[in-house]
Amino acid sequence: MQVVHTIADLRAALAPFDAPAFVPTMGNLHEGHIALVKQAKNLGDVTVASIFVNRLQFAPHEDFDTYPRTLEADCEKLAAQGCDIVFAPSEKDLYPEPQGYKVFPPTELADILEGHFRPGFFVGVCTVVMKLFQCALAQGKGPRTAVFGKKDYQQLMVIRHMVRQFALPITVVGGDTCRADDGLALSSRNGYLSAAERQEAVQLSLALKALAREALTTGIDLHQLEAKARETLDARGWASDYLTVRRRSDLLPPAPDQRQAGELVVLGASRLGKTRLIDNLEF
Ligand code: PAJ
Repeated sequence: MQVVHTIADLRAALAPFDAPAFVPTMGNLHEGHIALVKQAKNLGDVTVASIFVNRLQFAPHEDFDTYPRTLEADCEKLAAQGCDIVFAPSEKDLYPEPQGYKVFPPTELADILEGHFRPGFFVGVCTVVMKLFQCALAQGKGPRTAVFGKKDYQQLMVIRHMVRQFALPITVVGGDTCRADDGLALSSRNGYLSAAERQEAVQLSLALKALAREALTTGIDLHQLEAKARETLDARGWASDYLTVRRRSDLLPPAPDQRQAGELVVLGASRLGKTRLIDNLEF
């Protein structure tokens, strides 16, 4: 496995290949990331993972400075899975000057849910992902496939939408969410949880499951069900941003006659102590 830090070195490493499969990450890799890499291995002639904690997608009060940076351990995990190239640029490599040109996703998709509670988040994500795609462009050939996790459901949708609207010749593939034995979605931020919080953390996915079940099996107004789900979770000490049932197609609330299985997703974001967790479930 080759570890490269500069755009020039990445392009040189990619030059012999025709169809790179790309997995962008911010590092501190867990089984969820690794599953995406395994998936990518079957989708191209070379597997590239990037590791870059992207300042642009963090608000000033968020955890950019404390976000775990574990490059050595990450590289060991990637090598063990047969990843071919790791692109781990420094901030100077990727943003040698302030990134004045940015990608602004449309508000109807990017200013709801995560984008509502983390203004600018998807601008930062789209900008870095677009830039990473360009960095992997060698001799006129770029990544043919890029794999993103469904764990970040809205992010996956925004990226798909961006790739489509910019006519990028890249197939975006979604990877299923990897969970711990108790059902907690794996996340680099789980490492922030105390032992007691870690025990409690599974309640977010349980709340989403219960909300999905009630949305299908009762005729009760969705707003009411969502409010109840949120009250129940917050009564346990959480501070929820949203717990909501949406259409998979556009992440908008379903009309009453659209409450059927197969087309919906329930999404949630909630803080437990200082840690903000997100999760979702297609149903
Ligand atoms: P990061 O949080 O490191 O996640 C990298 C990729 O791993 C994303 O596609 C994410 O959805 C996926 N992932 C995270 N947890 C997962 C889990 N439990 N199961 C399956 N996949 C999981 O998402 C980002 O980084 C950044 O926003 C990035 C796209 C790299 C842009 O900076």
